[in-house]
Amino acid sequence: MRNYGKLRTRVVAMPKDTNSKGNIFGGWIMSQIDIAGSLTVRDLDSGNFATVAVNSLEFKKAVKIGDTVTCYGKIIKVGKTSIQTQIEVFAERVVEHEEVCVHVTSAIVTYVAVDNEGSKRALKI
Ligand SMILES: CC(C)(COP(=O)(O)OP(=O)(O)OC[C@H]1O[C@@H](n2cnc3c(N)ncnc32)[C@H](O)[C@@H]1OP(=O)(O)O)[C@@H](O)C(=O)NCCC(=O)NCCS
Repeated sequence: MRNYGKLRTRVVAMPKDTNSKGNIFGGWIMSQIDIAGSLTVRDLDSGNFATVAVNSLEFKKAVKIGDTVTCYGKIIKVGKTSIQTQIEVFAERVVEHEEVCVHVTSAIVTYVAVDNEGSKRALKI
């Protein structure tokens, strides 16, 4: 497997997370991505962060009910107050008695280090 970074989240997609077509709702996947990104920045700085931008997001394949959805994340850029992360999402499911793993979503998300008042602060690195 390519270097997608560390495993950040792993959760089963449930019926309550579906859209009107019965696939898993994109907003739910985005929420998993944001959680994974917020855990990724902790590799460098354990303080508070705010999500400032989703710089890119590509839904490559649909996620289905019962899939095990796994997010991998790594840091791709470090600034003065910001950290950019790359998050790759995979869905594992059983098809005809075989376990398959599908690359479903890619995202780049940027976080800004913030203080207790929510103002940006220098990274603690
Ligand atoms: C995050 C926040 C504090 C940043 O404050 P700001 O004074 O506007 O910050 P700046 O414009 O100076 O940008 C700060 C850093 O973010 C980077 N940044 C800002 N917008 C960006 C974007 N669209 N893409 C990538 N990086 C971006 C800047 O390049 C800068 O990086 P650096 O200091 O490492 O060089 C402010 O925008 C905010 O409070 N946003 C709302 C956050 C929020 O509610 N998020 C959702 C829930 S967590």
